[in-house]
Amino acid sequence: MAQERSRTISIFFCLALFSLSDCHPHAYRSNSPTSVLRAAANHTKTKDTAAEVAGYADVAKRIIDLAVFGAAQNRSYRRLADFTDAIGSRVSGSQSLEMAIKYMHNAMSQDGLDVHLEPVKIPHWVRGKESAEMIMPRSKNLAMLGLGSSVGTPPEGIKAEVLVVQSFDELKLRASEAAGKIVVFNQPFVSYGETVAYRAFGASEAAKVGAVATLIRSITPFSVNSPHTGWQDYQAGVNRIPTACITVEDAELMWRLAQRGQKIVVRLTMEAKTLPDADSFNTVAEIKGWEHPEQVVLLSGHLDSWDVGQGAMDDGGGAMISWEVLSLIKDLGLRPRRTLRTVLWTAEEQGGVGAQQYFNLHKVNLNNFDLVMESDLGTFTPVALQFTGSDAARKVMEEVVKLLAPINTTKLESHGEGTDISPWLEAGVPGASLHVEDSRYFWFHHSEGDTMTVQDPAEMNLCSALWAVVAYVVADLQDMLPR
Ligand SMILES: *[C@@H]1O[C@H](CO)[C@@H](O)[C@H](O)[C@H]1NC(C)=O
Ligand SMILES: *[C@@H]1O[C@H](CO)[C@@H](O)[C@H](O)[C@H]1NC(C)=O
Ligand SMILES: *[C@@H]1O[C@H](CO)[C@@H](O)[C@H](O)[C@H]1NC(C)=O
Ligand SMILES: [Zn+2]
Repeated sequence: MAQERSRTISIFFCLALFSLSDCHPHAYRSNSPTSVLRAAANHTKTKDTAAEVAGYADVAKRIIDLAVFGAAQNRSYRRLADFTDAIGSRVSGSQSLEMAIKYMHNAMSQDGLDVHLEPVKIPHWVRGKESAEMIMPRSKNLAMLGLGSSVGTPPEGIKAEVLVVQSFDELKLRASEAAGKIVVFNQPFVSYGETVAYRAFGASEAAKVGAVATLIRSITPFSVNSPHTGWQDYQAGVNRIPTACITVEDAELMWRLAQRGQKIVVRLTMEAKTLPDADSFNTVAEIKGWEHPEQVVLLSGHLDSWDVGQGAMDDGGGAMISWEVLSLIKDLGLRPRRTLRTVLWTAEEQGGVGAQQYFNLHKVNLNNFDLVMESDLGTFTPVALQFTGSDAARKVMEEVVKLLAPINTTKLESHGEGTDISPWLEAGVPGASLHVEDSRYFWFHHSEGDTMTVQDPAEMNLCSALWAVVAYVVADLQDMLPR
């Protein structure tokens, strides 16, 4: 695809993409007699919708009871532990990702769901052996992780003097000092959405001024000497230089040494390379709607992860609560009017590759997609549902979240978000995402620390309950959400 570009956009903007979507000024309303009549009709309609949604209070309570207090308590956590302990990490192109897909296909089929796989070609980057050491002014091992899509170094590594900068602006000011050096970016963490630009574009920016490699401070607000990997993008026409992330501690150390005027020399060795695209699949499970099987409420999380940790938080949790919704609805003997479809995306981390191919294949049915939902910011204690859609749709969703009073999450926020649902949202389909108490999310994100140890069963129960009530009720209302 214009793949480089669309990957860049999704990496860079995935957390901020839809902030403009609610900025339209309110439509002008005239006061002609017909419009007054229509407004009156609309008012009745709004009242009807509120009453219709309120009619789901009992079923919402049953879903919540089952997920939080009943027989399904801790099930999504247990499934996540079984899955991530058996498979481990599962990066795009790896055997373990293929095993993960088989595992979930099998597990969801055994759960009695209707499951199929949809083929996707995905990137296949391999890290190989890698290391970095500071040689001058003293010898020190640097914990590091090569960045996804980076080229490798020659076998003997790259040994070069270091230039430490704190920003792209500083790099421009000091461009004449960069030739032949390893540029270390010691940018402070502002927010993931903003600071990730250094990981995504640092290598090409440094290459433009003659650098031979880059080491980038990990994109995290908290560190116990933990490097955090992630995708990066080479700019077309710019020399491709090896790039890796280092720890906050080591980036700050080298910054202090440089401030004292000390000469720093580092050796970076990476075997990283990109192999031909691999075969993979989006994994799709569903409960068909009884009245409008062609109309869909889509729930999702991604099955791939980085090649470190267990990918429990990013995004095993999102995948498991999206499966759990179907299990809860089935266990209660419910079947909504519309189809509830869970899609476990492949190759999200490479820029939403599986999701983009799914959109290309299914956008012909755009008008039948009622709501697309994605959980990819952790499954900690939920605080709100984030929603993008028209004012009319928002009114309906405001009623729906009232049904979540038993778990104290009745807040509806603006800006549903997520790399994997973004093509649908851009095409005007209403979208929803899960806002959780995510202050710790980027502590563990894309690092060895993303394991089951950061997950909590009670928190996952609440996420599952919220996800299930919203999806079921929207799928069962008389009408699709207004566009
Ligand atoms: C009534 O609702 C429809 C669709 O929800 C909208 O297009 C129309 O402008 C509304 N009319 C008035 C007078 O508010
Ligand atoms: C669910 O997990 C919590 C916390 O670990 C535990 O106290 C509770 O007994 C578990 N419930 C079930 C049914 O396993
Ligand atoms: C919701 O809040 C009430 C009142 O603070 C509390 O008693 C209840 O345990 C909470 N429920 C959940 C599921 O957190
Ligand atoms: Zn993710």
